Amino acid sequence: MQSSEVFVGSIDQGTTSTRFLIINRDGAPVASHQVEFGQIYPHPGWHEHDPLELVESVETCIAGAVEFFESQGFSRTSIACVGITNQRETTIVWDHETGEPLYNAIVWTDTRSQAIVAELKSRPGASKLQSLCGLPLSTYSSATKLLWMLEHVPRVREAFERGTLAFGTVDAWLVYRLNGGPDANVFVSDSTNASRTMFVNLETLRYDDSLLDFFGIKGKLHLPRIVPSSDSSAYGVIASGTLARAPIMGCLGDQSAALVGQKGFSPGMAKNTYGTGCFLLYNVGEKPVFSKHGLLTTVAYHFGGKPVYALEGSIAVAGSGVKFLQDNLSFFQNSREVNDLAVTVEDNGGCVFVTAFSGLFAPYWIDDAKGTIFGITQFTQKGHIARATLEATCFQTKAILDAMEKDSGSALTELAVDGGMSNSDLAMQTQADLISIPVYRPKMRETTALGAAIAAGLAAGIWRNFAELRDINRAGGTVFEPQVTREESTAKFEQWEKAVRMSKGWVS
Ligand code: G3P
Repeated sequence: MQSSEVFVGSIDQGTTSTRFLIINRDGAPVASHQVEFGQIYPHPGWHEHDPLELVESVETCIAGAVEFFESQGFSRTSIACVGITNQRETTIVWDHETGEPLYNAIVWTDTRSQAIVAELKSRPGASKLQSLCGLPLSTYSSATKLLWMLEHVPRVREAFERGTLAFGTVDAWLVYRLNGGPDANVFVSDSTNASRTMFVNLETLRYDDSLLDFFGIKGKLHLPRIVPSSDSSAYGVIASGTLARAPIMGCLGDQSAALVGQKGFSPGMAKNTYGTGCFLLYNVGEKPVFSKHGLLTTVAYHFGGKPVYALEGSIAVAGSGVKFLQDNLSFFQNSREVNDLAVTVEDNGGCVFVTAFSGLFAPYWIDDAKGTIFGITQFTQKGHIARATLEATCFQTKAILDAMEKDSGSALTELAVDGGMSNSDLAMQTQADLISIPVYRPKMRETTALGAAIAAGLAAGIWRNFAELRDINRAGGTVFEPQVTREESTAKFEQWEKAVRMSKGWVS
């Protein structure tokens, strides 16, 4: 190691696991540590995390990765700064004076706010919200999760009435706690995360009074200050533990981080990340484009200067569908085996699986859709269902790309992919076949962590501009070329759309 070598730490706090990676100037991870934490499902459709466990998981990962890093002859003092990337929308409330959480985090997948959403949709002004904040009214955003807590959790309501209720997405919570909580009181959220709450005006990147008014929370809530995704002072320093005094200099919602990690810096570039859910972000440049076809508008990244926006297609279930086959149906021991199971059969055997465990997100936005498998016969094997599970995400990606083409007026020529399910060659080949364009999978697929490292590294001067990032993670990727005719893929897609229509309205 050269003594001048510098590294960036990257905290990746996702829906099912937390990781910490230490990344060098070439964008390569040199150490990492990952832990899973508790998934709490108190009722059907509910999904929670323990906020303190999230913080502990970050600290455990930092300790584990640094231990390995130092065992390789490096020193923690060469970690110049830390970036954070996180699951978005997940909503945490705490007492502003004590820093203690007042309820479990309500996770982005949680659908308990369905009735609240239905009521909000009937209010005057509801149809104008999306043109201000970029998001449709649904159970997905943070706003309706917060309203549910205010309605149903007395401690939260009391703190709100007292004026001591703090609200934040996971980024704000982690930054606040890592800085030491109420003593330091570093209470900020980056623009990409803040743009997922429904409280922020996308053009000004400020909280919008008309939005806060609509949700009935104006003036009573402590909201984090919105800051750029890359900033050398706004995020403070880690107060204690393995990396005590390390400055936090970057923060991006995980899907924005993946776009940055894929270096999707020019308008027209897109990436699709197959994580717990699957999220396609399409860079539209410095002016937000508001969708007429079921997509979201979001902040792609904001590195000081003008923010860059994206059109987003959000799919609630991708890796979580595979995990369902593993945990609930015992199809295999490790999610990587899904590919092996799916290739045991030639095709889906007539099965279509609408994996609507959280309703259906983009471009359909059907809150009351339920997970439904169509086409089961005595012939159906586990392999067919495994295949149909992978195909469900690919079909929704196709629907999102069609919508994106209508909104943007131009067709994508190649789709960059990453995330766990992108390890499946079968899934990626299916994807290319269904969208009729090549799918590009980079060799190093830690793009989310890389994106957060880039955000921090730009603020710290480790990289000075995008041009310096050009050669990072370019070599050794795989391209999946479409191998079926458009007629074949269209026929399959029509069957999927029929299944979507039939998955609505089931009341259990
Ligand atoms: O919007 C939710 C998203 O940020 C979660 O990402 O990687 O956990 O699927 P992931």
